[in-house]
Amino acid sequence: MSVHPKMPDELVCICKRWSQILAKLKEQKERIEYIQNELPALLHNSGVFVELLSNIVKGGRYPDIRQPQMFDDEILLYLNTQPIFSIRMFIYEPLAYTPIHDHNSWGVIGSALGKIGVVKYVRVDDGSVEDYARLHQAERVTLALGETDVALPLDQGIHQTGNADGHAGIMVSVYGRLIRRVYIQQFDMENNKVYRRYSPRVKKKLLAAEALSVFKE
Ligand SMILES: [Fe+2]
Repeated sequence: MSVHPKMPDELVCICKRWSQILAKLKEQKERIEYIQNELPALLHNSGVFVELLSNIVKGGRYPDIRQPQMFDDEILLYLNTQPIFSIRMFIYEPLAYTPIHDHNSWGVIGSALGKIGVVKYVRVDDGSVEDYARLHQAERVTLALGETDVALPLDQGIHQTGNADGHAGIMVSVYGRLIRRVYIQQFDMENNKVYRRYSPRVKKKLLAAEALSVFKE
């Protein structure tokens, strides 16, 4: 997805600038640092978010809420064509949190509305037993408007994010290039379980392939 004609002008400028700069920065650390420096200005730009939310309420073509993502409250704002990064917006209900999960890329997350809660976990088993994972809660962070936090890929960035406020909240995530894995891992800490979580699109493809194989037998 390149820039959409209905994208707010300031967001278009940001997407173009980040695309140019991130393509030049080769190290993950440099890319994360760049986005950490850049993201707060976008988060403080309430005009952009009012425009995005108004477009959604009006049923406009951008942002495209018909496109299913990994999480129900996740809306894709921009996917760089290479694709070295994406920008996503999560609209959280009061006090709603995602399940505990890992990531397929680095990510810089921040609050564009309200207090965003981040609970971070450390995986203490070695991953050798199928479907089993043992986690310890490591840290709980609350991001005020404009504040950011970093998540790393796989076991380095297990967390849950959500809304620590009594009103709707908006989290913006900038994710880096994806590693080759078609799922993320979702954790059930109480029962020491780990599951594969697929996007609705991938899930339907896998189900179709499974049904097709029955036809061919
Ligand atoms: Fe996350």
